[in-house]
Amino acid sequence: MEQQLNSYLQNMTLEEKVDQLLQLVGAFFEDAETDGQITGPMASLGITEETVRNVGSVLGIAGAEEAIRVQQAHLGKNRLGIPLLIMADIVHGFKTIFPIPLAIGCSWNVQLAEESATIAAKEASVSGVHVTFAPMVDLVRDPRWGRVMESTGEDPYLNSVFARAFVRGFQGKDLTNDTDRVAACVKHFAAYGAGEGGRDYNTVDLSAWQLREYYLPSYKAALDEGCEMVMTSFNTVEGVAATGNKRLMRDLLRDEWGFDGVLISDWAAIKELIPHGIAEDEREAAQKALLAGVDIEMMTSCYNGHLPELVRSGQLDEALVDEAVMRILKLKQKLGLFDNPLRGADPEREREVVFCEAHRAVAKELAIKSCVLLKNDSVLPLNRSQHIALIGPFAESGDILGSWSWSGSQEEAIQVIDGFKSKISSSLLSVATGCSIDEISEEQYAEALQAASQAEVIVLALGERSDMSGEAGSRSDIRLPQAQLELVKRLKTLNKPMVAVLFNGRPLDLHGVIEEADAVLEAWFPGGEGGAAIADLLYGDAEPTGRLTMSFPQSVGQVPVYYNHFNTGRPQLDPNTKERYVSQYLDVPNEPLFPFGYGLSYTKIAYDSVQLSSDTLTPGQALTVKVRVTNTGTRPVEETVQFYVRDISGDTVRPMKELKDFRKVLLAPGESQEVEFALTEPQLRYHHADLSFDSDSGEFAVFTGPNSRDTTEGRFRLVKETGK
Ligand code: BGC
Repeated sequence: MEQQLNSYLQNMTLEEKVDQLLQLVGAFFEDAETDGQITGPMASLGITEETVRNVGSVLGIAGAEEAIRVQQAHLGKNRLGIPLLIMADIVHGFKTIFPIPLAIGCSWNVQLAEESATIAAKEASVSGVHVTFAPMVDLVRDPRWGRVMESTGEDPYLNSVFARAFVRGFQGKDLTNDTDRVAACVKHFAAYGAGEGGRDYNTVDLSAWQLREYYLPSYKAALDEGCEMVMTSFNTVEGVAATGNKRLMRDLLRDEWGFDGVLISDWAAIKELIPHGIAEDEREAAQKALLAGVDIEMMTSCYNGHLPELVRSGQLDEALVDEAVMRILKLKQKLGLFDNPLRGADPEREREVVFCEAHRAVAKELAIKSCVLLKNDSVLPLNRSQHIALIGPFAESGDILGSWSWSGSQEEAIQVIDGFKSKISSSLLSVATGCSIDEISEEQYAEALQAASQAEVIVLALGERSDMSGEAGSRSDIRLPQAQLELVKRLKTLNKPMVAVLFNGRPLDLHGVIEEADAVLEAWFPGGEGGAAIADLLYGDAEPTGRLTMSFPQSVGQVPVYYNHFNTGRPQLDPNTKERYVSQYLDVPNEPLFPFGYGLSYTKIAYDSVQLSSDTLTPGQALTVKVRVTNTGTRPVEETVQFYVRDISGDTVRPMKELKDFRKVLLAPGESQEVEFALTEPQLRYHHADLSFDSDSGEFAVFTGPNSRDTTEGRFRLVKETGK
């Protein structure tokens, strides 16, 4: 096998090798049907027909017939008959659109997350895709950043668990023979989530310690699960743009972690080394990126224009080019493309599989599990005999798929109004837009008043347009747009029970709606079946079980606010005392509005105190941590029991709480169960100041509870050596 690849390599000219490292969009390929305009850096690519004939991969085409046409045309022209790799961003579904990843995180449902990726892979593969640019596993703490919607949240452990689940779902166990799977590409390496001020593409500057302790584990987890590819990030890491960062890519990713798969630049990121100010021109950018270990250049032509000359002039070793080409060829081989260049692409199966009922049912289930009930003053669940006024820009809107759902169809999305129509007769439903996303007119308001006047309960469907989050969707003010706050304020004067359902891609500052509404359901962008899922939840045909995986701030001034923070030398011990010289704000509490792990259900769960099997733990043993949970309400529920640890004193400062595990338990009304966690010494390891990874003897606290705030605490000592 390796021999076959070597013979390809030996037969390739230097130009052919370099072209193998280029990735272009479908518009460059004859017979591709894309209406993509060639703009920006693409216009000046200077790509020749010869290059296109030799190109190694294409992005963004999907559709079995188109993929087959492009591949066949390519094979007809490529001198050595090397097939194209077809890649696309299949982030939260292909045509069947699942909730956005941040919402999937809030389900804490690892199995459904995996299933969503399995389905996305199948739909994408029958449509001709070989590689998805997912999962995005960037740790996120700043809701101003629009791309928090692509991540599963602020916790390194939970993000790692989801990273693995997505990789398993996309890739399956046997990529070569299971053509219903696609290769995964974990992104964006590294720490793209830590951009200053939450502004997209902005500078990241973290200590190596912070990077390793918080930001890197989720990428590593994806690779440990066998993820085939890695994508670079746009940001700097320790002063060097990631895409030209040799220490990050070659030293850490390749040498230390042993990653030998394909490393692709993000879109135009090699050329962006120039505006970053670490390359003078495209030539230097190409040199730095290749030295860093980047194999594929996405959508700029620094490699294409300069690598041949750099090699010929002796400034770059051809072995580096060969190595990159081999990695790409190996991936093609692993995907079975040399034997079966069309792979899963199959128009007939595409019609059968894509957006089928079975897939949509999973999307609905995941949407149900992803919504988070933030507040409920006895107004939910609704009663089918109540007259409802459904008001707001999301009442009748298909814009509920969220960013990165380019092959999904807003027209086919189940809207909120559709959900209501499936629950109550039209005589009990009045509907009004009330306002658009960011404008309110007197006419719209009059309509809303009219609808509300007949109703017993007002249900408001509010939020951000999907393009207000996602890439290049940073916001400095993360409240609902003013027009919608105005609508809430005016309707509040009617003194009717008010329920707000929110559609958004980030935690919001909820002032102006959280006090005013009697109940608030965070629906995120719930995907194509969203309206049906929301109606089930509002009417109590399903139980809200989602739990936040990113804190909701009191105000944007608190950002970043996250549960796994440090204590500081002057912690605020009592928020009610007015002591001045402690770490606090004068105008807002330190705590977020809603903490990590938070969410309500319609039933109540009582937690007993946490119990430990011993007050010491030694290496090689396990400490059993138990908590009894009881459903004291009248409805069955699946509760997510959360387990946190705090290392009281370490070599470096340690977070106040760190999620170590969680368990889902099904509880019938009145039922009580004991939930057990086993804690072992490796779970207590962390990066020391010298970056070594170990645990320390000493005192630890353990916490169990329904969220990161409302926990009960136990203590034990880790004893690694006698006498400590
Ligand atoms: C995004 C990546 C994406 C790529 C290809 C870039 O702008 O940052 O996440 O995979 O485009 O579409």
